[in-house]
Amino acid sequence: MENREIEVLLSKEEIEGRIAEMAKQIDADFPDGELVVVGVLKGSFIFMADLVRQISRPLACDFIRVSSYESDQSTGVVRMEFDMTQPIAGKDVLLVEDIVDTGRTLRYLISHLEAKNARKLKVASMLYKEMGTDSKRLVDYIGFEVPKRFVVGYGLDSEGVYRSLPYVGAFK
Ligand code: IMP
Ligand code: MG
Repeated sequence: MENREIEVLLSKEEIEGRIAEMAKQIDADFPDGELVVVGVLKGSFIFMADLVRQISRPLACDFIRVSSYESDQSTGVVRMEFDMTQPIAGKDVLLVEDIVDTGRTLRYLISHLEAKNARKLKVASMLYKEMGTDSKRLVDYIGFEVPKRFVVGYGLDSEGVYRSLPYVGAFK
């Protein structure tokens, strides 16, 4: 397993501070109803774990897994690997992503979840990369905007590695 030099872009403290703000906003936006937080595996698992622990209201957690990336290059194809396990009709759903890059994955997931007739669907992404695809309007809660570089850490990987870094960084 290679170990490349990484430049820190967002420290653990910055990320934690921002997650607390996002959680406050989410608490305010979902005052009632049943809330199901749906994490997109694998990349969102660390962000989601931190986020749900800062949200005060009761909620259920579920996961969905899609793949769209082979190596560091988008293949352009989004494939459902496994779907969430509970019905969400009439419930509120918060979809949790690690990063929105081209927005292809997110568009796919939104139409997939909309077909399940949730009462309200909102999207939280730890990171947003401006790729000129007009996907920002699809994201209700953005943690941070990052430069157009390949980023790793805090759940994000490069060929399966670096997810466990406690910060977000880019290769030097
Ligand atoms: P999109 O479909 O192009 O928006 O890409 C979404 C998925 O690609 C994300 O959920 C990530 O898993 C992966 N991805 C996109 N950009 C990066 C990056 O800079 N680092 C690591 N993974 C990325
Ligand atoms: Mg992902």
